[in-house]
Amino acid sequence: MEAQAVHIPDNEQYRELKKFIEASRGVPGPLIQVLHRAQKIFGYLPLEVQHFVARELNVPLAKVFGVVTFYNFFRMDPVGDHIVNLCLGTACHVKGGSEIGKALEKELGIKVGGTTADRFYTLSTARCFGACGLAPVLMLDEEVHGRLNPQKAVQILRELRAQVQAAAVETNKEEK
Ligand code: FES
Repeated sequence: MEAQAVHIPDNEQYRELKKFIEASRGVPGPLIQVLHRAQKIFGYLPLEVQHFVARELNVPLAKVFGVVTFYNFFRMDPVGDHIVNLCLGTACHVKGGSEIGKALEKELGIKVGGTTADRFYTLSTARCFGACGLAPVLMLDEEVHGRLNPQKAVQILRELRAQVQAAAVETNKEEK
């Protein structure tokens, strides 16, 4: 893997990341911090961004790639506008979390870890949000929804999509 071979666009996002990298130069082992910041800026870590980080930090691309693929909080694929995080911790699992997972996969037409084609939802899982008393639980963006069953969970996702669509229609009307 050759870090210099890829053309990196000169845009605001890369300039912001470069600034952060410059400021991190004195810090020992800045790679993970830099990748965190890069993910915050870009939403995910495509290879192009990894090339940039490798070049700017002067580390082999293979090392950057190794770190990105080792930690599951780094993503190489774009995420949706809304993150559905289904809890599969013990309490949620015994109360039917997996059934909810299957229903959501079917509803969205994706597997866990995937993103819908319209980039509206990314479906993810977690191991306990500390809300076991409400099991089974999912988090939709920052909001916890508890005491779910497959139908309720699907309904929550449909409602958010309907709300966003209605808001978009309103905005279009106002703009006309
Ligand atoms: S196991 Fe799901 S919130 Fe604790």
